[in-house]
Amino acid sequence: MSNHHIKVGINGKKYESVVNSRMHLADYLREDLNLTGTHLGCEHGVCGACTILLDGKPVRSCTMLAVQADGHNITTVEGLSCKNAQTGKTELSNVQKAFWECHGLQCGFCTPGMLLTAQSLLNENPDPHEKDIRESLSGNICRCTGYVQIIESVKLAAKLNRNEQKNMDQDTSTEETKELVKRGV
Ligand code: FES
Ligand code: FES
Repeated sequence: MSNHHIKVGINGKKYESVVNSRMHLADYLREDLNLTGTHLGCEHGVCGACTILLDGKPVRSCTMLAVQADGHNITTVEGLSCKNAQTGKTELSNVQKAFWECHGLQCGFCTPGMLLTAQSLLNENPDPHEKDIRESLSGNICRCTGYVQIIESVKLAAKLNRNEQKNMDQDTSTEETKELVKRGV
């Protein structure tokens, strides 16, 4: 068995590691990097608990080798929250806030995979129909919630994202107006 030197971007940080050719990506994240937010359920590509984003697309980290991630960018659940530029405090992302608000989790085992799949859907489709949400989450199994709250959570996350975007657009147009007024246009 051979070892490989890999370089991977994870949650905005660069990592360089030596990994065994047989090591799965999920084990690399959990055991070598201590990013234990990525959960392992079935370990053969069925339940979706181990979903991460690879270059923005959801993939099962239990069926991918760590060496295949060389040169790619990964987002795990630990990378979803972000620092508020004004307060400097770490805040939950909209999709995380929405799962909290709508009770989209019970035991939480499936939640990291659900969050990342939902995030990827919303990146591509900011206003998904319920059938798009159901289709997108169809590969993520939850044994607790019955999915109703999960679907509601994704709908709320989409709404929060859209409101945020609207506020940002308004701020930009206010700034632009101020600039034009300043220049006497
Ligand atoms: S643990 Fe990877 S799909 Fe179930
Ligand atoms: S919240 Fe328990 S498996 Fe989904």
